Amino acid sequence: MEISFPWILVVTVVMAMPLSFRIKANQLSYDYYKFSCPNLESVIKSELLGIFLTDATAPAAFLRLMFHDCQVQGCDASILLDSNYLAHSHSSEMKSSRNFGIRKRETISYIKSILEEECPGQVSCADIIVLAAKESVSFSGGPHIEIPLGRKDSRTCSFHEADAKLPSPTITVDEFISIFMSKGMNIEESVSILGAHTLGIGHCFNIVGRLYDPQLGDKMDFGFEASLRLACPTEIPLTNFTFVPNDMTPVIFDNQYYRDIMMGRGLFGIDSSISRDPRTAPFVMRFAMDQNYFFKAFSSAFLKLSSTNVLTDVQGDVRRQCNQVN
Ligand code: HEM
Repeated sequence: MEISFPWILVVTVVMAMPLSFRIKANQLSYDYYKFSCPNLESVIKSELLGIFLTDATAPAAFLRLMFHDCQVQGCDASILLDSNYLAHSHSSEMKSSRNFGIRKRETISYIKSILEEECPGQVSCADIIVLAAKESVSFSGGPHIEIPLGRKDSRTCSFHEADAKLPSPTITVDEFISIFMSKGMNIEESVSILGAHTLGIGHCFNIVGRLYDPQLGDKMDFGFEASLRLACPTEIPLTNFTFVPNDMTPVIFDNQYYRDIMMGRGLFGIDSSISRDPRTAPFVMRFAMDQNYFFKAFSSAFLKLSSTNVLTDVQGDVRRQCNQVN
């Protein structure tokens, strides 16, 4: 009698493995640059410190840059590729309106140029993006997160994927959960990763849809809504420059975001929806009450966001310049 191989058992065992083990199997590792670029983290830290001290909005920009890179084709620096250097069939991801407001791409390229002097041809732009995001979190008062390295840079980018995969500020809670579930996060981690909105700003461009669409029936705190209407007085924003802080402490990584959204002061539709949906609201409340608990969940979610679906070894390159393929 033929004995069939117990694939079900293998799948179950793999799913039950801790994520750190699966990441290692994916060839990311915590000491990836130990010999090839031993000073990597200190070089990045000192370059970023200069930037953070002169621009208090920079940490928010780096954190969002990481999400928008990782959300399209995985964390592969595809967001940094410029149209001028691509084959005709490709268009930069920055052409997608979902990337409106993305900043600091050129700073990653600058840090890369410094690292090319320190350890030529070693450090990927994809790893620099993730390291800049993690430093941004800790510099702003958030948790210190250990992340494995060894991501490779893509040879392509996808404007169409950027348009399709980068979420609109008015997505439903179902869509929100499924985006982060696909990265291995549970609901608690998904709610925690949106806590990244404790930093930074949103432009009227991303707020007016919610403010002036009566169909959405979005309940906000009365005073907060009045202040948003004052900042963004017309349905079509008069300029692309007007913005509003994401929470009451936009340069501090804390749990104020959760207290704000519980009070009807969430800036985007999805911020407000997670404070009301019965699946997500209990976590919002828990994070609002316990900052350490939020930091723990956020660290775990950050690790998953930054390590899922990455290119390793020969699947990608270490670009010489971040904005163009080799
Ligand atoms: C469903 C998921 C998400 C949606 C719909 C969303 C949407 C948005 C929108 C519309 C903005 C405003 C952009 C602007 O007007 O300039 C924004 C800002 C921001 N987002 Fe998200 N976001 C999501 C998830 C995330 C995640 C996972 C992170 C990071 C891990 C993140 C980090 C940020 C940060 C830091 C800002 C402020 C950026 C700045 O000040 O330049 N977001 N987000």
